[in-house]
Amino acid sequence: MTVLVAGGTGRLGRLLVRSLTADGERMRVLTRDPAAADELRAQGIETVVGDLRDHEAVERAVDGCSAVVAAASGFGPMGSSSPQNVDRDGNRALIEAARQAGVAHIVLVSMHGAGPDAPLELLRMKYEAEQALVASGVRWTIIRPTAFLETYLDVVAQPMQKRGATIVFGRGDVAVNFVSVVDVAALIRAALRDPGLSGRVIEWGGVDLTLNALSGAVHA
Ligand SMILES: NC(=O)c1ccc[n+]([C@@H]2O[C@H](COP(=O)([O-])OP(=O)(O)OC[C@H]3O[C@@H](n4cnc5c(N)ncnc54)[C@H](OP(=O)(O)O)[C@@H]3O)[C@@H](O)[C@H]2O)c1
Repeated sequence: MTVLVAGGTGRLGRLLVRSLTADGERMRVLTRDPAAADELRAQGIETVVGDLRDHEAVERAVDGCSAVVAAASGFGPMGSSSPQNVDRDGNRALIEAARQAGVAHIVLVSMHGAGPDAPLELLRMKYEAEQALVASGVRWTIIRPTAFLETYLDVVAQPMQKRGATIVFGRGDVAVNFVSVVDVAALIRAALRDPGLSGRVIEWGGVDLTLNALSGAVHA
């Protein structure tokens, strides 16, 4: 049976798709990017080109799947994607389409700190998606990772490579918890195999580091 990864072109999704493909799993990716879809198809991965906000594309994406991993996000500066229309509404549409298609299990990649009164809109939208999933009646696993280490290493390293200096937010001395995407992908892989991880909200973190420590490590 096929596993759909929405967000399968992202930093986490790419790694997850690669590792599940290596396990012999039949994989499908929903992406808005036709060039990324071509690349994935060349690697033997099924693709559906479309947007989480497009019901017809989402229906095609879940058709015939045994499991769905919801790993997309509309957080970021570019385009028309937003936490409301991707992390909340897009995930809700994906969950509903998966339910109607008889998908057995949905793994939702949420975020540490998700909650109804969280200070960040993204975290409130993640919580709304979590609620929709729990109410769906489909077997579920919710994963709440902390900040992705590799993403923040890029944020710190790229200006360092270009200008020999980097930017930290604030004074850079507040500890933040970071987790490697490798560990997040490993947990999703385990959740897809182990029924004992179903019906659970799993907080998933790694090391506490300040941004000053992170930029010091990159500079060294
Ligand atoms: N980054 C972090 O520190 C962090 C921490 C905790 C949890 N998370 C969660 O972990 C997951 C993966 O994060 P990431 O940083 O690996 O993601 P990313 O690299 O930012 O990639 C975002 C993904 O979302 C997809 N996407 C965005 N808008 C979409 C839309 N309208 N329709 C369909 N797909 C859409 C993109 O696909 P295309 O562009 O190919 O369409 C891409 O695959 C997300 O759910 C994120 O919220 C991230």
